[in-house]
Amino acid sequence: MLNFEYYAPTKVVFGRDAEAETGRLVKEQGARKVLVHFGGGSAKKSGLLDRVCDSLTAAGVDYVTLGGVVPNPRLSLVRKGIELCRQEGVDFLLAVGGGSVIDSCKAIGYGLANEGDVWDFYVGKRKPTGCAPVGAVLTIAAAGSEMSASSVITNEDGGLKRGFSTDYARCRFAVMNPALTCTLPQYQTMVGCVDILMHTLDRYFTNTPGAQLTDQIGEALMRTVMDNAKILLHDPNNYDARAEIMWASSLSHNNLTGCGMAADWSCHQLEHEFSGMFDVTHGAGLAAVWGSWARYVYRENPVRFAQFAVNVMGLPNHFHDPERTALAGIEALEAFFRSIGMPTSIRDMGITVTDEQIAEMALKCSFFDTRTLGCFKVLDKADMANIYTMAR
Ligand code: NZQ
Ligand code: ZN
Repeated sequence: MLNFEYYAPTKVVFGRDAEAETGRLVKEQGARKVLVHFGGGSAKKSGLLDRVCDSLTAAGVDYVTLGGVVPNPRLSLVRKGIELCRQEGVDFLLAVGGGSVIDSCKAIGYGLANEGDVWDFYVGKRKPTGCAPVGAVLTIAAAGSEMSASSVITNEDGGLKRGFSTDYARCRFAVMNPALTCTLPQYQTMVGCVDILMHTLDRYFTNTPGAQLTDQIGEALMRTVMDNAKILLHDPNNYDARAEIMWASSLSHNNLTGCGMAADWSCHQLEHEFSGMFDVTHGAGLAAVWGSWARYVYRENPVRFAQFAVNVMGLPNHFHDPERTALAGIEALEAFFRSIGMPTSIRDMGITVTDEQIAEMALKCSFFDTRTLGCFKVLDKADMANIYTMAR
């Protein structure tokens, strides 16, 4: 097991009607003026936004609103948000939505707490010295941004999607009412389940030995997500299944499933180029690339893939032939993705990529040939292009 720091400072308020606590939670943070940030309309339509604003008013907290965050949140709205918050004297950012809204809040938070262009942080030009405080009322179980250190922003200028992580940006609190996710279209529920799985998978496929407890937490989390995704396919209003998946979304990305191990993250990095260039839904892009990545790398450590096949996918162990067990596990996860309506190739997402586009994705993903990806198998630009080609 490797040395590690585990930092999960977010206060979680979980359960039915939890959003009624928002005003109290914001007040606890000492906020005087709040930006209520939201997406394209689902929170308005469901009445959630009004309930949250009423709760702020009841707690005596002033607020302004800014909607319009889109999936793969855009830098232009972040800039608009920073300007608005400066004009209005906002000192607390409240996200009412999913990962995109939370990430947009985190980016606005960096902009408020630091001088200069906020994009500099996402391209590694400078380091921030803080982030204005952020809280979340979560409406979709997926990205895990409610407890993660990350935010992922897309710069429309050049189609670059970049993630940036610091502990400054961790949410002060996360309000999680699983019932709020019942209004999600089935497709969004399922891409969320893939993202939750992938936050653990991208940590789980490692060559670090000796993290048994972390392994077993991750394996239980993945089985739980798959079991409950299957329930939601046929019974989308099942509260307990929604609750299991919502809690898994946070635990899968607050690093509980990565303690003591070196994380790989290749699939996430490979996916960001699909989102940046083709604006695909993050979870769908992950499902589309995972199988190709797995087939490209599994020979580095077939026993690890065999462990996944047996402990997570419930397959028999061919002890004498770990490669056979490993491949069966890869096929089983791809079959699961298909069973919940997810793509397992780029074509399945309705996109035909040219050789030139594959070269462009590999170039961008390798930060213009200045970085490699992963640690399970270290991938260079040529490997990235090979995986994109396999996934097409
Ligand atoms: O905009 P509205 O109308 O609210 O619709 C949203 C959006 O279209 C809809 N939605 C959300 N809650 C709903 C709802 N519709 C009906 N009922 C509800 N209760 O769902 C759509 C997707 O929302 P989004 O916030 O984009 O989803 P998600 O949470 O999957 O976030 C995706 C973004 O997070 C990033 C992704 O790359 C992507 O940009 N990620 C962020 C991470 C982080 N910060 O730690 C880690 C992840 O790996 C990921 O990269
Ligand atoms: Zn993700």
